[in-house]
Amino acid sequence: MGTYAVTGSASGMGRAASERLRANGHTVVGVDLRDADVVADLSTAAGRARASAAVLEVAGHRLDGAVLAAGVGPTPGPDRPRLILETNYRGVVELASAWRTALAATGKAKVVVVSSNSATTVPMVPRRAVRALLSDDLDGALRSTRVFRHAAPAMAYAASKIAVSRWVRRQAVTPQWAGQGVRLNALAPGAVMTPLLEKQLATPREAKAIRGFPVPIGGYGDSDRLAEWILFMLSDAADFLCGSVVFVDGGSDAYFRSDQWPTAPSLTETPRYLWRLRRFGTGY
Ligand code: NAI
Repeated sequence: MGTYAVTGSASGMGRAASERLRANGHTVVGVDLRDADVVADLSTAAGRARASAAVLEVAGHRLDGAVLAAGVGPTPGPDRPRLILETNYRGVVELASAWRTALAATGKAKVVVVSSNSATTVPMVPRRAVRALLSDDLDGALRSTRVFRHAAPAMAYAASKIAVSRWVRRQAVTPQWAGQGVRLNALAPGAVMTPLLEKQLATPREAKAIRGFPVPIGGYGDSDRLAEWILFMLSDAADFLCGSVVFVDGGSDAYFRSDQWPTAPSLTETPRYLWRLRRFGTGY
């Protein structure tokens, strides 16, 4: 039986995944603002440092897997964009990075980062915000989202999910992650009926946008069903899964972006492709 770290373990998908892992006989070290083995605020640097160290101590510096599900939604509020970026981006990247050696210690650990289909279905997300996040320039990312005024939380949310997905894809294939046997992947749900979504549905403007959003299969996702996807991505079935962003969203991403992906590398991308082809195996 294994040991798993789960952030956001007190509610929604993180809670459902924790319950399933425990029911299967695993040890779960849950991290959340309340009702968790490690109570910490992942929107602050001190909280993240404390949480990552406390989990390592409880887990004896060996982790079979991790689920990074803690996150906040794009509900309105003046300080909301910063909270979103701190929690949804840094709360994932800093903890996953801090746990990498403990994950490598168990041979074929799996990490599931809970992203969102907001990463591909929200238009006009400033690229500069995503670039800034990936360079850990949170203030720069905030400046790029602030110009959207009342839509700033939605832009910060989508930017956080694009950046975290890209971080997963960049890191997953490196000698530090894949080379150490750690499978790093992201799950991208659509609207799932959890307290996070309920808060959004309680805001008239957001409720209208959510209810009018195209979901080809209809309805909302269910946190228990999404937890089954998380467990699948933690299981041996995922031994060959690396750097994938798995959409479980009722078809919204396919509806909007059917022709954007998959595509062959374009002419302008080809030199970089060839460069990577040659560099593989040299510690890239
Ligand atoms: P939820 O609100 O039910 O659970 C999120 C958990 O994260 C809560 O227990 C909360 O206390 C914790 N959390 C929030 N801020 C924290 C902080 N600063 N420090 C420590 N813990 C903190 O939400 P849900 O829906 O289960 O969300 C899980 C993940 O799924 C989030 O990353 C969210 O962005 C993502 N997601 C949710 C969707 C939805 O429609 N519910 C859709 C797509 C992605």
